[in-house]
Amino acid sequence: MNVTVFGTGYVGLVQGTILAEVGHHVVCIDLDDHKVEQLRQGNIPIYEPGLESLVKENYAAGRLEFSTDAAAGVNHGQVQFIAVGTPPDEDGSADLKYVLTVAATIAEHMEQNQIIINKSTVPVGSADKVRDEVEKVLERRGRNDIAFDVVSNPEFLKEGSAVVDCQKPDRIIIGTECDATIEVMRELYAPFNRNHDKIIVMDVKSAELTKYAANCMLATKISFMNEMANLAERLGADIEAVRKGIGSDPRIGYDFIYPGVGYGGSCFPKDLQALIHVSNTIDFDAKLLKAVESRNKEQKNTLFNKISQHFHAELKGKTFAIWGLSFKPNTDDMRDAPSRVLMEALWAAGAKVQAYDPEAMEEAQRLYGSHDHLILCGTKEAALKNTDALIIVTEWQNFRAPDFDLIKEKLTEPTIFDGRNIYEPRRMRAKGFTYYSVGRPS
Ligand code: UGA
Repeated sequence: MNVTVFGTGYVGLVQGTILAEVGHHVVCIDLDDHKVEQLRQGNIPIYEPGLESLVKENYAAGRLEFSTDAAAGVNHGQVQFIAVGTPPDEDGSADLKYVLTVAATIAEHMEQNQIIINKSTVPVGSADKVRDEVEKVLERRGRNDIAFDVVSNPEFLKEGSAVVDCQKPDRIIIGTECDATIEVMRELYAPFNRNHDKIIVMDVKSAELTKYAANCMLATKISFMNEMANLAERLGADIEAVRKGIGSDPRIGYDFIYPGVGYGGSCFPKDLQALIHVSNTIDFDAKLLKAVESRNKEQKNTLFNKISQHFHAELKGKTFAIWGLSFKPNTDDMRDAPSRVLMEALWAAGAKVQAYDPEAMEEAQRLYGSHDHLILCGTKEAALKNTDALIIVTEWQNFRAPDFDLIKEKLTEPTIFDGRNIYEPRRMRAKGFTYYSVGRPS
């Protein structure tokens, strides 16, 4: 099938590439000609395991193209994906301007009946706005003879495993009430729908809300666990034992109940905020969502509070080693990352930071390169030199079994603040460390 994807960000690039990989002929359109040129040369703007080689292979095979030519793009595809960003406005609402601009562009150039697929995360009611925009332009062009449908087809990719998530989706949500559209969508996704039927068809608004409900549910699990971790600390219990104890109940499950330094990234914080905003506009008091958000904000201070307490609020002139800057492992993304809240709090208290991350160094340089209280180090060992304590913010695999003797040697005092519970408190004590973690006795 011929497919057009507008937007070569995270969602558009991964989805377009995977659709090409199964044999569709995909054209990805982006306004940014530099980005398009880079993609043609196989230079991927994001770090995502497995993506680069798939882009190169499919581009070389001619199944995946990158272009800035919107008109040609619209007339290539039997379906048109909208996969552009919906950044939060100042009030937390999702800004639809890019989505609506793409809708208008599609309407401007379409010459045949079209299916417009909304892949961007957009508030309930956005498909109607896209529909209005397209109708308006078609009317102006005097082309009321062209029929179209707007489908909500949210994505559920996780950064760091986006390629696999896209190749093996748990579910494919299709929001439309048009039978002909359902048929085309079934054909489009047939290669991903082989072992059992993963396609769930529903009305457009329910599909739009499903995306937010999924992310808000997962964020709720995390905030719930962080609340329990705070309780455990004060009651002298061990949250890791509690996690295993409750995760064994299949109704609760082991996923997304890891306590830590709060959730970050481009999705949970933004989607929570957007749903709270929507609730406000319809006079609904989303009590639970607000509590989830508020617990998360506080949780991002948990490491700083422990550090401050340990050093009796005297952080001026101290230097800390930070391991992990990305909001989670296997990504270079630092959007809403807990590391940022921590570093900014340390700087505000007069402390210095020596940081290392396996993938996010360039991003850290871009965000904070000129900060005179930050040294970005080339290795995790280099970050330790002459520091007062080690702080672990992201649970990258290669932080899990470090050379503890070396850490002890480099730190002025053997103190570790672990925001992800990657070490055993008993072992750490035995090795002579003062070890703080989350929700466990120190
Ligand atoms: C999330 C969802 O998991 C995807 O299903 C969704 O498609 C995506 O948002 C999106 O809307 O595009 P992502 O933001 O990539 O994916 O990352 P997650 O793996 O969900 O992690 C989010 C945050 O929660 C991270 O900061 C992580 O450290 C934190 N987390 C996760 C915990 O603190 N504890 C856990 O048990 C799990």
